[in-house]
Amino acid sequence: MTNMISPHGSKTLKPLLVDDAEHNAALTQQAEDLPSILVSSAAASNAVMLGAGYFTPLRGYMDKADALSVADTMHTTSGLFWPTPVLNLVQAAPEVGPGQKIALRDPNVDGNPVLAIMTLGAVERFTEDEFSAMTQKVFGTTDPEHPGVADFTSQGRVVLSGAIQVLNLSYFPTDFPDTFRTAVEIRNEIEKMGWSKVVAFQTRNPMHRAHEELCRIAMERLEADGLVIHMLLGKLKPGDIPADVRDAAIRKMVDVYFPPNSAIISGYGFDMLYAGPREALLHAVFRQNMGATHLIVGRDHAGVGDYYGPFDAQTIFDEIPDDALEIKIFAADHTAWSTKLNKVTMMREAPDHTKEDFILLSGTAVREMLGQGKAPPPEFSRPEVAEILIAHYKDQP
Ligand code: ADX
Repeated sequence: MTNMISPHGSKTLKPLLVDDAEHNAALTQQAEDLPSILVSSAAASNAVMLGAGYFTPLRGYMDKADALSVADTMHTTSGLFWPTPVLNLVQAAPEVGPGQKIALRDPNVDGNPVLAIMTLGAVERFTEDEFSAMTQKVFGTTDPEHPGVADFTSQGRVVLSGAIQVLNLSYFPTDFPDTFRTAVEIRNEIEKMGWSKVVAFQTRNPMHRAHEELCRIAMERLEADGLVIHMLLGKLKPGDIPADVRDAAIRKMVDVYFPPNSAIISGYGFDMLYAGPREALLHAVFRQNMGATHLIVGRDHAGVGDYYGPFDAQTIFDEIPDDALEIKIFAADHTAWSTKLNKVTMMREAPDHTKEDFILLSGTAVREMLGQGKAPPPEFSRPEVAEILIAHYKDQP
């Protein structure tokens, strides 16, 4: 390929999945004889991201110094830009020491198969003060009601760092065979399409009309060659719509409303952090790794509740060094259907409008409607999308 965007901090992608089938089978068998630990879902999803090349150029889990440095300065101790700690936190130190190999078992697959082999670098421990300072930096809060904080804090305080060899990509390739893609696969697909300007759309939701138009507007204004819809397939907080339902809704929407070959529908295996601005930066890192030149960052990107200002996830990109990332963001304003213009528009581009001129529905309001078997208004959701969502809510107890 001619001049695709470089991976982050590296000339080539560094997927840690052991690709060679024979080598993989041999390691998988050897792993059965190693001491093993059951890791957290967060640590497992870090292994999947490392395995799939999204976390290039990291070679494994961070140690305590790197995690604290990343939380504090958004750089590792060796100076690599990285916005969130990539950790394997456990409750108790294992019976093995530095330099030894240890098998990491997957908590999300029946029978807890070995997901990766780690060569243990260090076994360290966070004090409560260090842990809480790190949480505050990454999430902007230590409130246990914040779902990302609650999950992070529930993990242990013992840090197991070291390089890993990833043996499989957990449940993602089997549960989402059409949608789960590695960074390597997406780069290849972009190359095959011959796209050079590529917009990535992060989502953890079914795409409503605001999302759809946001993608269209970004594509038009950037004069992009293609769109990669890249949905989160990992764990979410209760109440968020399950990945298979979102996937079906998005596929339908693209099928009906996007020109053929203009969008790649894909997903990645990571648990949502809900870390708002810091997660937006992480999103940019791994979209650069998969070959996107732009990432759409709209209103309350990766946010939850009222923990972040609606555009904090955009302004943080002004605060990082100019050379931290090659990928650029498409910073979008709040987008909604205008009853005056009869189309979706960015609110700040319609200064003569009042709030009443827009159809604005909260996630909760939409869920309530769907729960009652009612479709959200067609200005909010495409009827084909609403139908899929209603069917899902009907099946709920
Ligand atoms: S997220 O957690 O993955 O960010 P979501 O799937 O809702 O949540 O959003 C995907 C992207 O669309 C994010 O960049 C978000 O900021 C943007 N977005 C969602 N809804 C709107 C909206 N009404 N106006 C502007 N941007 C939006």
